[in-house]
This record gives sequence, C-alpha cells and structure tokens, in this order.
Amino acid sequence: MTDLAVNGLDGFKQRIDTREARIGIVGMGYVGLPLALLFSEKRFAVTGFDIDARKVEALNRGCSYIVRIPGAEVQSAQENGFRATADYSRIALMEVIIICVPTPLNEHHEPDLSYVTGTVEAMAPHLRQGQLIILESTTYPGTTEEVVVPLLEQGNLSGLRVARDAAAQGFYVAFSPEREDPGNDTVARCDIPKVVGGCGPVARDMAAAIYGAIFNRTIPVSSPAAAEMTKLLENIYRCVNIAMVNELKQLCLRMGIDIWEVIDAAKTKPFGFHAFYPGPGLGGHCIPIDPFYLSWKAKEFDFRTRFIELAGEINSQMPYFVVENVIEALSQQGKALRGARVLVLGLAYKRDIDDLRESPSLTVIELLQQRGALVEYNDPFFATVGQGRKYALNMSSTPLDQIPEFDCVVIVTDHTQYDYAKIVEAAKLVVDTRNATKGIESVNIVRC
Ligand SMILES: NC(=O)c1ccc[n+]([C@@H]2O[C@H](COP(=O)([O-])OP(=O)(O)OC[C@H]3O[C@@H](n4cnc5c(N)ncnc54)[C@H](O)[C@@H]3O)[C@@H](O)[C@H]2O)c1
Repeated sequence: MTDLAVNGLDGFKQRIDTREARIGIVGMGYVGLPLALLFSEKRFAVTGFDIDARKVEALNRGCSYIVRIPGAEVQSAQENGFRATADYSRIALMEVIIICVPTPLNEHHEPDLSYVTGTVEAMAPHLRQGQLIILESTTYPGTTEEVVVPLLEQGNLSGLRVARDAAAQGFYVAFSPEREDPGNDTVARCDIPKVVGGCGPVARDMAAAIYGAIFNRTIPVSSPAAAEMTKLLENIYRCVNIAMVNELKQLCLRMGIDIWEVIDAAKTKPFGFHAFYPGPGLGGHCIPIDPFYLSWKAKEFDFRTRFIELAGEINSQMPYFVVENVIEALSQQGKALRGARVLVLGLAYKRDIDDLRESPSLTVIELLQQRGALVEYNDPFFATVGQGRKYALNMSSTPLDQIPEFDCVVIVTDHTQYDYAKIVEAAKLVVDTRNATKGIESVNIVRC
C-alpha cells in the first residue's frame, strides 16, 4: 500500500513503472470498461467495480456487453489480472481509484449527482493513506472540491483528509475528463491527450503520472475546476455549433440551397473553420446533457448562459422538424400521417454504435406515434428495444426486406452497413435527415 509521506511522488511513479500500482475503476460502462482494458493492456492489475451484478458476472466470465468491445479483449485483460467486483471493501487494496459513473439530469433538467455521491459515500470508509482518487464523470466546475472531497473526508473512518501538498498526510484527489468519441476509429484512444487537474500539485502530478502510463500526452491544468470546465467547454462548443448548423439547414431548405454542399465547400478553408453537420437532433450521454450542468451552476453566480439555452432550444426542436417533414412528404404523395406505416432506420444516437441514450430516434418515434402513425424501426445494433428512462417502446427490429410495405422510411441514424441505394429502390418514400442518400437520384427522397 502506498504511503506517499514515506515514499513520495517518486515512489508512486516507481510503482507505476513496475506495475505494482493496483488500479480500481468504479463504473464498468462505456467509459470505465475501455479505460480498464487500456490499463490492462499496459499490464496493470485492474479491478472493475460496479453495482450492476449482471455486468460484474459477465466480465468475470470473460464476456463483453458493449458491441465494439470483443469478449477476447476482456479475456486478455483477465490474463493480466483484471477482475470485476461489487465489493467496495476491495477499494482499500487499490492505489489509484478512478470514478466513471453516470451524471445525468433529473426530471427538472438539473444535475443528478446521485451516482457520484453514492459511489463516493460507499468508497469513503475504505480509503487508505496515500491513495489517489480521480473523478472522470462529466460534471460542473466545483464538483470535485465541493462535493467529492467533503464526502470522502466525512465518510472516512480513520479521519483522513485530502492531502494538498507533499508534506501532508491523507489521500489525493484529482479530476480528469473523459474524452472518448464512441465509434470514432480515426484517433487511437492513447493518442487523445488527457487533461488533469488536482487538489494541489502532488495530486495533479500523480494523476499525470498514472495517465502518462497509458496516454501519450497529459495536459496538467491548475485545478480540478479548470479540468471540469475544459470538458464542458468542449461539449458546449459542439452543442452550439451543431445548433447553428441545424438552424442554417432549415434556412437553406427554404432557400433551395444544399447545406451539405455548402459545408463541404466551407471546410476546404485551411484555417478558422471546423465542419459541424446538421441532423435530427442531439443524442448521447454528453452533448444534450453536459451544457445544462454549467447553466445550473451559473445560476449560483447570477449568470445566464444564453448560448447554451438558445442551442438547447434549436437542437431540441429538430425531431419536431423531422416529423413535420414526414407529414409534408406523405401529403405530397396524397397520404396522411395518421394510419401511415413508417419505418425509422437507426435507433442509436449516432452511426455504428450500440448506444441509444437520449437518441433523437426515440423522440421521433414517439412524436410519430402521437400523431397516429404506425411506427416500426430497424437497427442492426438493437434487435429489440424495451423500457427506457423516458420511453417504453417494447418493439423488435423489423427486417429491411419489409421496406416495400411501408409508406415512408425515415433515416434517422446513418449506420454504414445500410445499403442506401437498395433502401431507396425498395421504398415508396425516404425522408433522409443525415444526407445518407447523397449521390442517389430519386423523386422519392426528401432530404431534411
Ligand atoms: N459514453 C461516453 O461516450 C462518454 C464520453 C465522455 C464522458 N462521459 C461521461 O462519463 C461518465 C460515465 O458515462 P458512461 O457512458 O460510462 O455511463 P454508463 O451508464 O455506460 O456506465 C456507468 C456504470 O456505472 C455503474 N454505476 C452506477 N452507480 C455506481 C456505483 N455507485 N458504484 C459502482 N458502479 C456504479 C453503472 O452500473 C454502469 O455500469 C458520465 O459522467 C458521462 O457523462 C461519457
């Protein structure tokens, strides 16, 4: 077990180099599991903590529940000592503990930190001198210092306090945002620079040292709050730019201009422009949610985050815009939406992933159903879909060979394995929200 007062930062770095440092990762989800596998790949002994007994059991059987992670990767991690557990007393055996639990919004659109506080309260009694605790869950600036540190201190039975310099006794705390982009294979995970902010310089350097063992570049910043804000800036930047391009798409449609052609031309500019693409609305665990963590916190400072609010307004209207286009497209063919058979292609919130959290497809389906359409879906990543946090769809994926039986096919998620030419050929009407049918000529395509 580490005792930094005795061994110092150099001792910690040495235990990283020799792989004696044991890593605990709390939350074996889309973020925590790949991170655990990355540490395992670099020969660290990793323990994955999760309260979901099915996940713990699956991992210990060498199975994966995330489509893009093959079971073989879990099995080779097991050979390097990877084990999953729900037993928090094993926190005491870890040298570094990284928290990757969900940070959703509650029904009032406010931060729901209950997973983070639940995790921290469960960990606190098992903390030991010299351990490093890192929060990775996306959250508002101030969470690490104002929520995590006090709960760790209050819950610790040995009265340990956060250590803010090398001379202090206690445990070390840092924040490091997760920057994964699911489905994006263009950048290797280890090439995504890792931002770290510590409660004091020792915690920051320890966090940089541990991540430096698996990432090629670490970016130390002055505080956990700066690291927390960095993540929010990145996601708000995306959210606002997507809203802008979604608004411009609607204008371009009225003006008879192809927004996709315009973006392709604009992105040839070698400086000062980054391409964002319009779509049926925001999805995923990050972009639709994270900005509201900041708006909520901003109120404490009597500050209104107007860009975030406006972007939220435009982006959340996009599924309604899609449904209006379906209604109009059907009416052009002399049909009403009520009673029409509509097939929604793609449930996932973006292409080629098996994640439907906050997916605009779910909203589109619900809006179509509310307006009397008979809706089915196809998604190669979801054979069935049941009860979600917001929606109770209880449907199974309809095979694509049934396309001719539908009055309208709506492309909401542009999975690459779809053969769009074949889909267009078979369909009576295609409403394309992603420009997936680019280059295909047909009077039956409505692009919106
Ligand atoms: N998914 C992404 O692409 C992504 C990208 C960047 C940041 N993030 C952020 O990372 C964090 C985690 O997201 P995710 O997508 O991995 O979530 P997830 O829902 O896939 O996984 C979270 C896991 O935590 C477990 N869990 C919940 N409470 C727990 C507790 N008290 N103790 C132990 N385990 C617990 C759940 O059972 C689940 O397995 C969130 O803050 C999210 O905003 C996610």
